Order: sequence, then C-alpha cells, then structure tokens
Amino acid sequence: MLPRKIIIDTDPGQDDAVAILLALASPELELLGITCVAGNVPLELTARNARIVCELAGRPEIRVFAGCARPLARKLVTAEHVHGKTGLDGIDLPDPEMPLQDQHAVDFLIDTLRREAPGSVTLVPIGPLTNIATALQRAPDIAPRIAGIVLMGGAYFEVGNITPTAEFNIYVDPEAAKHVFAAGVPLTIMPLDVTHKALVTRARVDAFRALPGRVGPAVASWTEFFERFDKEKYGSEGAPLHDPCTIAFLLRPELFSGRHINVEIETGSDLTLGMSVADWWRVSGRAPNATFMKDIDAEGFFALLTERLARL
Ligand code: RIB
Ligand code: CA
Repeated sequence: MLPRKIIIDTDPGQDDAVAILLALASPELELLGITCVAGNVPLELTARNARIVCELAGRPEIRVFAGCARPLARKLVTAEHVHGKTGLDGIDLPDPEMPLQDQHAVDFLIDTLRREAPGSVTLVPIGPLTNIATALQRAPDIAPRIAGIVLMGGAYFEVGNITPTAEFNIYVDPEAAKHVFAAGVPLTIMPLDVTHKALVTRARVDAFRALPGRVGPAVASWTEFFERFDKEKYGSEGAPLHDPCTIAFLLRPELFSGRHINVEIETGSDLTLGMSVADWWRVSGRAPNATFMKDIDAEGFFALLTERLARL
C-alpha cells in the first residue's frame, strides 16, 4: 500500500517534536513537508526547532517552511511557561545546519494541494491554525482537494489549559480555527479530553531513555522538562503527549474513539474566547462537522510510539 501523504503544520514545542519524530519513523506516512507557525514560541524559533528535530532524526532532506508569524486578527500569545524559552528546553541541541525553504509555508500548502491528486494529502496541524486558515482564505479551491485534517486542539469535558475555557492552539488564533472548522474539510480533532489521557508516566520516560541512539534520551529529557506545567496544574502523573496523538491516529485509528458531532469556535466573547463548543450530546441541531475524540488506548499508544522511536 502506498504511504499516506501528509503535511505537518507545527509550533515545536516538545510534544510537536515527538509527533514529527513519530511521523519520520513511520513508513506508512510520506511527509511532504513541515510548515511552521508561531505558537508555543515565536516563528523564528519554531522554524529553527522543526529543523533541529529533523536533524536529530537523521533526516536533513525534509523540507521545512516558515509560515505566519502572528494570528489572523490578534496579538501572538506564546507558551514559554510550558515549553521554555527555546520551545525545546530539556536538552541542548545544536542550531540546525539544514536550510529553511525560501517559499512561504502558505504558498507551499496551496501549491502542494493544487499539484497532488485531489484527496491524496492529509493536513496535520498541531499548533495554532493560522497557516491553514490563511491558505484556505487565499485559495478556497484547495478545500475539496484536502483528504482530511487531523488536528490537535480544543477541549470540552477537560475545559481549557490556557484560559478556563480554551485550549492553547485554538485560543492563540480563534478566527483561524473558526474558518478551518467551517471549511467543510473532513476534520478529526484530538482535544485535551483525549490528550490528557496520554501521559508520560515515569515508566514510560524510563522506556524512552533506555532506547538505543540519541532520539529516545532526547524525548525523555523533553518530556521531563515539559511535564512540570501539567504536574503542577493538574497533579498529572506526567507530560500529556498532545501532538503525537494525531500521528498515532493516522497509523492506528483503532487506538482512539470519539463522536462525529458539531464543534464551533467562540470568537465573540472575551470571557470564553477560543472555546471549542463541542455538541457532544447533539442538542444544538447544528450539522456535525468533526470527529471529536475522547478516549485512547494509552498502553497501545505508548507501545506504538516507543517501538517507532527505537527505529530512528
Ligand atoms: O494545548 C496543547 C497544544 O498547545 C499542543 O499542540 C502544544 O504543543 C501547544 O502547541
Ligand atoms: Ca503544538
């Protein structure tokens, strides 16, 4: 079977880094490119970090593109309090030698979707949705050509992680999220409701650290750094591996379960800005537009992740 073509849109971030590594370790996927967006840290750092991760995986040929440096209509909010000043705190890795592509990430998204066969490319946004929304606004013709969007973002039962009601990726650019959720592209959402069940426990960190080569120990150090935020706030057992849930879904969808429901994004209220209003109980009468995940086979997820990281 031919590998599935994907583009990862990202704001690395330690958990983004693990998602990129999982994709690079998986022959079922063909990574056409990595498009970077401002989010966890400013764009200059996310574009640097994505290349650091590719070089760590021994894949300097992967094309990395810089995209939007700020949200569609708001000031950028970043998350150094979670990911550290560099966005990849936890281990010191050298600046990348591989080049950043000259083309803007949004142009790469549009050109690739227009060139590749309709329905052959899946988008995997794991940061704020600014690049994706900008591409859809600038080239509405690409929407029916996208096979699907599998994104990390939003929350319902788990409520917010950056405000009482909003998850970070959606909160940073709610207007972008609103546009993407209304674009009519098949949407699979990995919200905090599921990613908060993918916790890197002590045993799982030890398993990463015991892997041969440089990748496992790096992932262990990254998760030991960014677990502080969730341990202090939620009393979690370890770091929630948010972003890798998207790639794991592409590899083994049976690890996840959820509902096909309507999900809308709040952009008008200051109090609940960026809230993903998931109609889990189907009371609104609004048409379903997304598969909203709620449960994960965490043991199966970590077994897949550990096995794949060992290949790098
Ligand atoms: O809320 C979690 C999300 O925000 C993850 O994608 C993490 O990397 C940050 O971007
Ligand atoms: Ca991210």
